[in-house]
Amino acid sequence: MGPRALKALMILTSAFVVLTELALAKHAGTTRHYKFDIKLKNVTRLCQTKSILTVNGKFPGPRITAREGDRVLVKVTNHVKNNVTLHWHGVRQLRSGWADGPAYITQCPIQTGQTYVYNFTITGQRGTLFWHAHISWLRATLYGPIVILPKRGVPYPFPSPHEEVPIIFGTALDQLSRSSTREWWKTDTETIINQALQNGGAPNISDAFTINGLPGPLYNCSAEDTFKLKVKPGKAYLLRLINAALNDELFFSVANHTLTVVSADAVYVKPFKTDTVLITPGQTTSVLLKAKPHFPNATFLMSARPYATGPGAVDNTTTAAILEYHQPSPTSSPKRNIKLPLLKPTLPKLNDTSFAASFSKKLRSLANAKFPANVPKKVDRRFFFTVGLGLNPCPQNQTCQGPNNTKLAASINNVSFVQPNTALLQAHFSGQSKGVYTTDFPANPLVKFNYTGTPPSDIFVNSGTKVAVLPFNASVELVMQDTSIIGAESHPLHLHGFNFFVLGQGFGNYNSSTDPSKFNLVDPVERNTVGVPSGGWVAIRFLADNPGVWFMHCHLEVHTSWGLKMAWIVMDGKGRRQKLPRPPSDLPEC
Ligand code: C2O
Ligand code: CU
Repeated sequence: MGPRALKALMILTSAFVVLTELALAKHAGTTRHYKFDIKLKNVTRLCQTKSILTVNGKFPGPRITAREGDRVLVKVTNHVKNNVTLHWHGVRQLRSGWADGPAYITQCPIQTGQTYVYNFTITGQRGTLFWHAHISWLRATLYGPIVILPKRGVPYPFPSPHEEVPIIFGTALDQLSRSSTREWWKTDTETIINQALQNGGAPNISDAFTINGLPGPLYNCSAEDTFKLKVKPGKAYLLRLINAALNDELFFSVANHTLTVVSADAVYVKPFKTDTVLITPGQTTSVLLKAKPHFPNATFLMSARPYATGPGAVDNTTTAAILEYHQPSPTSSPKRNIKLPLLKPTLPKLNDTSFAASFSKKLRSLANAKFPANVPKKVDRRFFFTVGLGLNPCPQNQTCQGPNNTKLAASINNVSFVQPNTALLQAHFSGQSKGVYTTDFPANPLVKFNYTGTPPSDIFVNSGTKVAVLPFNASVELVMQDTSIIGAESHPLHLHGFNFFVLGQGFGNYNSSTDPSKFNLVDPVERNTVGVPSGGWVAIRFLADNPGVWFMHCHLEVHTSWGLKMAWIVMDGKGRRQKLPRPPSDLPEC
């Protein structure tokens, strides 16, 4: 059901069933069934036709709509050659870790011809999330929105919008064919990343970004491939922004319109106005767009382009959609075909780190009686993780394209994560970790150095499948510190299975004696993905109340590929409802 239909339905029913609604709101939700068939589909963008992986032949993929409290069953069948898994990014997956989806972390991939039913309940969340493939770079085309409506009869804590519109940013399918001639099949995203991992160099950058799968009028051949939002004067629109791009944080702005941020990562925030939103891969941000009171005699671009800080090359192109107003009435505007001026927004400059810092400081939890910010006040476990790039030696008898004949790598506390060939969660659940993972992930860097100063002379990483183990219900404080090794860079770190509170951030090296006194324990934003500031640090807290194995990684796919990832194991608690249930019988085998 679309938001409009829902609204109509709500108006119809609310008149005479207010009391029933109130009673229903307390009841458990319903079950929503989805069938996702992974199949190939020919799609033309930027003058090229490619065969891409899709769900049900749709690009972007189908929207999942549910209410808070609903159970969602997604039956996924793989009809393609690639191994596939899907991840429900940001869904808390309370005691349903088997449905989380990262390949070789919580499950083995769904192989050709196989089916797996993802089964989870949405608890205590409302807002926007998204789903995406979670194996190699398949999420380049396999992604779609998740819209979580409040429980029936429960209003938003902001003026109810006239319409709700997902705006999902992606990386254009075609981009990755830069080095290709006509052999698109040789230059799909899988080939791009596999070759880069082989030769140790940086993978090709993209050539385009998309909004709802469409690059927009600023690219060749793309005037027709432009997303258009038609609005009525005076009405409010809820834009559910999702950054599903592979490797780029994005600035987003609408010409001549101010946006009001109301929610981030499916948690309401204190509303604030801004001209530009910064959104990292893995983040979602809902904004209210208030249409002008009268027909403005103009159309407006809604544009996005990267915020980029790293040492590598950047795709600095701009994707755009069009915001147009319904004409007042056909009779009063005889010159219907008159070309209205198209206004463009001004976006911050590519590396505007001070914008990034001030924008993220504006995000605050509602922290009221209805939506409290349950920040852990005491800390049971403290961790300090460096995040950044590094190098691996070039294998003998090979030449490598990283600096000085090396291979580029990335790490957390200098551990570059090696993907196991069986799923960590299965190994953990069956008590067979031997040969799969070790539990010695360092809580602190083994070698201390000036993290944001001149890098040490040895910048080679260690490799291993190491996890950090947490007792059930431990409250965790984690400081993530960017390093300047090879180059400082903003890293959007994503934690599976939890939301965390962002207590503070700063530039330079974290100071454990002076910085904690500045932490916000009152109304810190609660989310699942946070940008570690370029050349700086961020401090977060979360409560380990969800037993299972939980992936944590940079949501820049290239950094994940290089090893900027690790996993937490949260042990079972004593109570019956504090244990991870048995795996479902259809869980794929490796
Ligand atoms: Cu968006 Cu590990 O995921
Ligand atoms: Cu990163």
